[in-house]
Amino acid sequence: EHLALWGGRFTSGPSPELARLSKSTQFDWRLADDDIAGSRAHARALGRAGLLTEDELDRMEESLDELQRRVDDGSFAPVEDDEDEATALERGLLEIAGDELGGKLRAGRSRNDQIACLIRMWLRRHSRVIAGQLLSLANALIVQSERAGRTVMPGRTHMQHAQPVLLAHQLMAHVWPLLRDVQRLVDWDKRVDASPYGSGALAGNTLGLDPEAVAHELGFSRVTTNSIDGTASRDLVAEFAFVAAMAGVDISRLSEEIIIWNTQEFAFVKLDDGYSTGSSIMPQKKNPDIAELARGKSGRLIGDLTGLLATLKGLPTAYARDLQEDKEAVFDQVDTLEVLLPAFTGMVATMRFDSERLEAEAPTGFALATDIAEWLVRNGVPFRHAHELSGACVKIAEGRGQELWDLTDADFVDVFKDFLPADKAPKVRAVLSSHGSVSARNGKGGTAYDRVVEQIGEAKSAIMPL
Ligand code: ARG
Repeated sequence: EHLALWGGRFTSGPSPELARLSKSTQFDWRLADDDIAGSRAHARALGRAGLLTEDELDRMEESLDELQRRVDDGSFAPVEDDEDEATALERGLLEIAGDELGGKLRAGRSRNDQIACLIRMWLRRHSRVIAGQLLSLANALIVQSERAGRTVMPGRTHMQHAQPVLLAHQLMAHVWPLLRDVQRLVDWDKRVDASPYGSGALAGNTLGLDPEAVAHELGFSRVTTNSIDGTASRDLVAEFAFVAAMAGVDISRLSEEIIIWNTQEFAFVKLDDGYSTGSSIMPQKKNPDIAELARGKSGRLIGDLTGLLATLKGLPTAYARDLQEDKEAVFDQVDTLEVLLPAFTGMVATMRFDSERLEAEAPTGFALATDIAEWLVRNGVPFRHAHELSGACVKIAEGRGQELWDLTDADFVDVFKDFLPADKAPKVRAVLSSHGSVSARNGKGGTAYDRVVEQIGEAKSAIMPL
């Protein structure tokens, strides 16, 4: 059977060791539907070029339909001797259409332009699925943000209490990267929207086939403009792999946050039982496994991208068999994300925040020190001094094991004495609340409630056209 594809100049078929190495049906069979669709379009191109009679084209299309049925119901599948999905499907077509007619379909195409086209078709379809799943996750975060309302929480930099923020603002900070990932997929789709069919092995085809018509039938709006580039480039596959890896990283960062918030020490959030796991030995355990798996799988998504880039580096620019290695990388990414995202979104949609605890923690750790400094600035103190004075307040409070609002009027009068009159100094208390602190940050993009409401509206309208 090996001789079916390249018998002429060979005296023997491939050695068993070669066949085993060369074989790819175990992973590329998932391209079978796209391959059959390509074959249908190609058959019509052959018909239009006068290389198949009307009757032959009819019988070819019927045979391809029958082949598709057999693939669907599993009665046709690759066997040991089939090298790749294209080899297997060719065997299937010959079985159905006979050698004479079936043998005509290969004219004017190569597995090189075929496979380059199929991976684009397959990825485009799955990129839409993944984009939809990413939008569902973004939506779950938006719903949580709306539910969070005016709840404040400790905002952190370096993981240290920094300034209070709205819980909604923190959650929305995870929405924007996800929307950019979706936007990246949308942009990518415009670049990948070109069919390599017609590029042949590398140089184009001599048979007067119309690649535009094939492209349109396969859902592409145009044809690649250089047949070598069409068959040899995989930058678009790598670009998809980057977006998949980036989405994994974005989800991993949210995971890390959820895992920390879910610890006993933080106790900011509780995960739903349906989205948590227990321990086989410790009866009390309730573990955030979904977030941990997401964090872990981001490593493998990155690995798929770097493996692919390493494969492409140094390849001469026309088809080489190395290019077969592009597929498992992105198949793995797609399989990983398509299973991960629904579980992750379920966890996010059902998690419950402890608003009382978030509110209580928000102003602690001297998180209002910046507000003191900025109050001093509004009262005419140069920021450099204001920073020092507020720092002095922190020092006193820390020394006494207190918070800033525990300082007495006399403390403030004393610390501010070189800059403010004694009747003015204690008025600083007005800024010593996390809600005041949050609503004061009302510039565009700030954490003030009205700004966050505005932000949620912007996110929703960004989602609509996607
Ligand atoms: N299975 C190959 C791939 O996935 C396509 C076949 C091209 N083979 C060849 N010897 N030109 O890239």
